[in-house]
Amino acid sequence: MTCRAKQRHDGIIGLDNTQIATGSGRHSASMDRFSTDNLTAERLNESHLADLVALHLDPEASRYIGGVRSAEATEKYLVANMAHWDQHGFGLWTLRTKDGAFAGRAGIRHILVDDVDEIEIAYAFTRNLWGRGFASEIATALTQIGLSQLELPSLIGIVYVANGASRRVLEKSNYLLERSTNRHGEDVVIYRIRR
Ligand SMILES: CC(C)(COP(=O)(O)OP(=O)(O)OC[C@H]1O[C@@H](n2cnc3c(N)ncnc32)[C@H](O)[C@@H]1OP(=O)(O)O)[C@@H](O)C(=O)NCCC(=O)NCCS
Repeated sequence: MTCRAKQRHDGIIGLDNTQIATGSGRHSASMDRFSTDNLTAERLNESHLADLVALHLDPEASRYIGGVRSAEATEKYLVANMAHWDQHGFGLWTLRTKDGAFAGRAGIRHILVDDVDEIEIAYAFTRNLWGRGFASEIATALTQIGLSQLELPSLIGIVYVANGASRRVLEKSNYLLERSTNRHGEDVVIYRIRR
């Protein structure tokens, strides 16, 4: 896949390993890595397993993303999401704060919703970092990558009805509420943004 760097209006990313000028300076990035004002993103790899296991073992962080996962389940998750990168050229990134601390994971990935192949944005942060605007920052970046760089026709966000913070993040990122459905026994809402 070829992804061209573009002049950014929000100072977030560039692709293609190019140096691009943005509102907040020059950034070097590729699909494997990008950075936002407060976060760096690295394509998911085996070295991220321990951090992901810890994130997925936190009941609060996991509450609206399918519940606590065992280390074995997270290992399978990592393998599946690395395969997603190999197959599609995009997927999940591990996020770090600028001082290098693990912050969470986020990405763009295929998902089957009511038998339709959709592409969602997803994000989850360690609890100590909630409430600092990081999810909004990364949702904006993912949306820019998905719509402008990957030229996807639309992106969705699937959120448990009760997950007010994530719903707010999508609304702030200009996603529109499309419909409700039930997924794995949970009531969820689907938001969408179109290119
Ligand atoms: C949901 C989550 C990603 C939000 O991350 P965050 O970095 O705290 O989000 P932000 O700070 O960017 O924005 C949160 C917004 O929701 C608002 N908010 C927080 N709790 C809320 C609630 N219960 N109901 C409604 N809005 C809420 C905040 O005030 C903020 O809006 P504002 O900027 O207008 O004030 C984070 O809590 C998380 O990682 N949760 C666990 C994983 C998860 O649920 N992921 C999403 C799956 S769809």
